[in-house]
Amino acid sequence: MRADMERGRDASLRPTVIRAAVLGGIAAVIGVVLGLLIHWFPAQGSTQSHTIDTFWDVLIICSVPIFVLVVTTVLFSVVKFRMRPGEEEIDGPPIHGNTRLEVIWTAVPATILIALCAYAYIVLHDIEKAPAKSLGPEMHVHVIGRQFTWAFEYTGKDGKKFTTPQLYVPEGRSVRFDVTTEDVLHDFWVPAWRMKIDAVPGITTHYRITPVKTGKTKTYPVVCAELCGLGHAFMRQTAHIMPQKDFDAWFAKQSQGGGAAAGGGAAAGGAAGGANTAAGKQVFASNGCAACHTLSDAGASGTVGPDLDKVLASQNAAFIKQSIVDPNAVIATGFQKGIMPTTFASQIKAPDLDALVKYLYTVTHK
Ligand code: CUA
Repeated sequence: MRADMERGRDASLRPTVIRAAVLGGIAAVIGVVLGLLIHWFPAQGSTQSHTIDTFWDVLIICSVPIFVLVVTTVLFSVVKFRMRPGEEEIDGPPIHGNTRLEVIWTAVPATILIALCAYAYIVLHDIEKAPAKSLGPEMHVHVIGRQFTWAFEYTGKDGKKFTTPQLYVPEGRSVRFDVTTEDVLHDFWVPAWRMKIDAVPGITTHYRITPVKTGKTKTYPVVCAELCGLGHAFMRQTAHIMPQKDFDAWFAKQSQGGGAAAGGGAAAGGAAGGANTAAGKQVFASNGCAACHTLSDAGASGTVGPDLDKVLASQNAAFIKQSIVDPNAVIATGFQKGIMPTTFASQIKAPDLDALVKYLYTVTHK
C-alpha cells in the first residue's frame, strides 16, 4: 500500500523534477557565461597573470554549476515538499538513509576537490619556479613596508644599497621580491601582477614575477592589502616597467647618487656648507617623502601629507627638523595626527637629517 503510494508520488514528481533540471541548466549556463565575460582583474602585467587568470576561469566553470545545483535543489524542495494547510499533524515518510545516494554525493565532490587541488598545486608550482639559468641572473628587490609607505631597496653593482620611493623593474626579466616590515603587518600587492604577500614583522617573505607591459601601460599601482593603521589607504605607490636598456641607465644613475647619500657623502656635503642641496634632495627621495608630500623642487606631488611648498615657506629650520623627527608635535590644518611615520628620527642619520632640513628650507624659501 505504502509502496504504491510512493510509486505514485514519484510519477507525479517527474515533470516537476525535469522542469527544475532544465531551469537549473539554463541558470548554470548563464552564470558560467557571465562569470567568464566579466573582467574581474586589471590588465595582465606579468607572465604569471595569464596562468592565474586561467585557473580563475576553471574555478568559475566548476563552481557556478555546483552553486546552481545546490540552490535549485533547495528551492525545489521548499516549494514541492512544503507543508500545506491541513498537514500540520502529519509526519513525513520515515527514511532510513540511501547508501547509493550517499556514496555518490561523497565521491563526486571529493573527486572534484582533489582534481582542483591538484591543478592549483601545479599552477602554484608553475608561477613560483625560478627562471631558467639561460635567461640570465634574476633581479632582486628588497621591499620594505612601514607606516605608511613602501620603500624599495636595490643593491648596486658595487654592493652599495640605495632606496627609492617608487618601484622600478625591467621588462621581461624575472624579479624576486624580498618583503620585510619595520613596524606592523603590511601586504605587498601589485594587482596587475596577481601576486601578493604579507610583510610580517621579524621574517622575510618572497615572491617572484616577470613584469610585462600591456599595450601602452608602463605603470601599475602598488598597494598595501593589510589594514595597518590610519594611513593604510594611502599606502599606494607605483611600479614602473622599463625596457632593460632604460632600466640599466636608471640603475647606474641611482647606484652613484644613492651611494653618496647613504654613506659619508652627505656628511661631507653638509660639512662643506654652502648652498649645496643635492645631498638633502637625495635623502628626500630615498626616504619616500614624495609618496605623501608635494614639493615642486623634487617633482613630488603627494597629497597624503601637507604641501611642503606651502606649509614650510613661513617656517624656520628648527620647525622643519621637529616636523620630521616628531611629526605629531604640530599638525598642519586639515591633517590628522598619527599618519606620518615617527620612525624617521632613528632611521635618518644625523648628517643626512641636517642635509634634508637644509634642502627643505632652501627650496621653500626662494
Ligand atoms: Cu600598510 Cu596597509
